[in-house]
Amino acid sequence: MSALIDRLQASPLTTFLSENAYAFPLLEIAHVLSFSLVLGSIFVIDLRLTGLGWRRWGARALLDDLVPVTIWAFGFTALSGMFLFASQPQAYVAAWPFRLKLVLLALAGANALGFHLLGADKVPAEAGERLPIVARVSGGASLLLWTLILATGRFIGFVIVH
Ligand code: HEM
Repeated sequence: MSALIDRLQASPLTTFLSENAYAFPLLEIAHVLSFSLVLGSIFVIDLRLTGLGWRRWGARALLDDLVPVTIWAFGFTALSGMFLFASQPQAYVAAWPFRLKLVLLALAGANALGFHLLGADKVPAEAGERLPIVARVSGGASLLLWTLILATGRFIGFVIVH
């Protein structure tokens, strides 16, 4: 693993990303824009699943409309994040907020997959109906995990020397 990181560090891609004045800021803009869409859509979903918000909306329709937005936006976030990472891979792998963020991303992914497999088909279409416990627990866990992902992501910049 560390040999792979060393090879990436010595690559022309890292040289370009770290030396070009515009590459990192532009990637960061793409990252912030796309993760805003991930967080915005997922928070609406989670607030609805926990019953804390958007209760006049049918949860099924909300999921059908918003999950594709989350997935597409996450694709762009992951892509821009990988290029940001490639600008100084050795420094990022050594930074605790970055490592923690990856662990939290894996947990958020596992939580979403668990909900998809165990609870998604039990979500009622009608707005007034109570949601199953699996939906409420998974929505609450998701709110917490994505908030921590945002916090650790923001923290990276205070640990890394650019
Ligand atoms: C939806 C998921 C994600 C969220 C919410 C998120 C959040 C953030 C935040 C808040 C920042 C700081 C932005 C700033 O200070 O201007 C950031 C930066 C960054 N993210 Fe993400 N991120 C996500 C996914 C990823 C992924 C998948 C990767 C790579 C594997 C990644 C790698 C990075 C890197 C390398 C930085 C630059 C940190 C710095 O030097 O300031 N992110 N992210």
